[in-house]
Amino acid sequence: MEPHPSSPHPSSPRLDHCPEGLPKAAYLSADWFAREMKTVFARQWICAGRAEDLARGRMRRVRLGQAEVVLCRAEDGALTAYHNACRHRGSELCRAPEEPLGKLIRCPYHAWAYAAAEGRLVATGPAKPTADFDRDAYGLVPVALRVWAGFVFLNAAARPGEIGSDVPLSTLDNWPMAGLVTGHRWETGIACNWKSFWENYSECLHCPGIHPELCDMVPVYRTGVMAPSEAPGWTPEVPVGRNLKPGAETWTLTGAPCGPVFAGLSAAEREAGYTFVTLWPSAYVVAHVDHVRSVRLEPLGPERTRLIAEWHFPPETLAQPDFDAAEVAAFAKIVMEQDGAAAEMNQRGLRSPSFTAARLMPEEYEIHRFQNWVRRQMEKVP
Ligand code: FES
Ligand SMILES: [Fe+2]
Repeated sequence: MEPHPSSPHPSSPRLDHCPEGLPKAAYLSADWFAREMKTVFARQWICAGRAEDLARGRMRRVRLGQAEVVLCRAEDGALTAYHNACRHRGSELCRAPEEPLGKLIRCPYHAWAYAAAEGRLVATGPAKPTADFDRDAYGLVPVALRVWAGFVFLNAAARPGEIGSDVPLSTLDNWPMAGLVTGHRWETGIACNWKSFWENYSECLHCPGIHPELCDMVPVYRTGVMAPSEAPGWTPEVPVGRNLKPGAETWTLTGAPCGPVFAGLSAAEREAGYTFVTLWPSAYVVAHVDHVRSVRLEPLGPERTRLIAEWHFPPETLAQPDFDAAEVAAFAKIVMEQDGAAAEMNQRGLRSPSFTAARLMPEEYEIHRFQNWVRRQMEKVP
């Protein structure tokens, strides 16, 4: 058969067809949502923020799908994580969003006490168990924990795989990630399904209509694609140019760096102006030449998602006189507010009785990949 005149080059990410999207229930149904919490969010690595942002001698609650977890940071900086449920009769251990932590985690109900370092049960409070009670079998149930680039990742699966990302985790090796300090944080709730957020993130067809400031900063976005390779008719011979408008080096309101440029970056990394690492289902990281932004999401319900954006800087940048991290954050915040409003608009519309499922366009290859990934995760119901 003759190729369709719009057939993409084999190296182009464009789809060669227009597939149907997930069914409407995926965005609205409580049952579908509960299944996602039992599968996607209970099995994948979930980003719980910067290790350094949990003070030593503190514990914090983190939600991994249906599981409530307590993340502990000891006085010596060591991190551990456990299901937030006592092995006696199941009471929660950490009641507030964050609480002080000593060497022991003591259940507030009947005072069973566990060693924070490894979860071992060390005391049963006033209860005096008989000889048949095997204390060693009643330690806290651990949750897998890894630190990548200064971020804590937790996984509630019994046998977790690797941290999933769209590009190798080594992509940020030239950035001094471990030494960066959080200088600004913005948290907001958006009235949309968590997948609507990711779908909006995964395409730039909305950029010309929704993001005037971003399209000014990144001229290729004006054409509705994220990169020249997505344009119809692209071939690998098309030279890779810079992404940002002339004179701009980073995503600030002026395009000027907010402090010293990271010394270890390659010429291509400086030229690119931004480097994204996407970590489904919970986070993405954007590394610029002078600072790094991370965005985490937490699904709260079928139509409710919490978004936490943080800006991370080298200490010397934060120490500059009159440095204003909020001003640095302002550019990306404009874009994220526009995206949040777009995702809410999308969510309201798909409640319509007339809507059954999306029809994806060739430029929405990443949405197609995401939806197939979600479908695969959900097939394996525990
Ligand atoms: S439920 Fe924790 S000590 Fe009883
Ligand atoms: Fe957007």
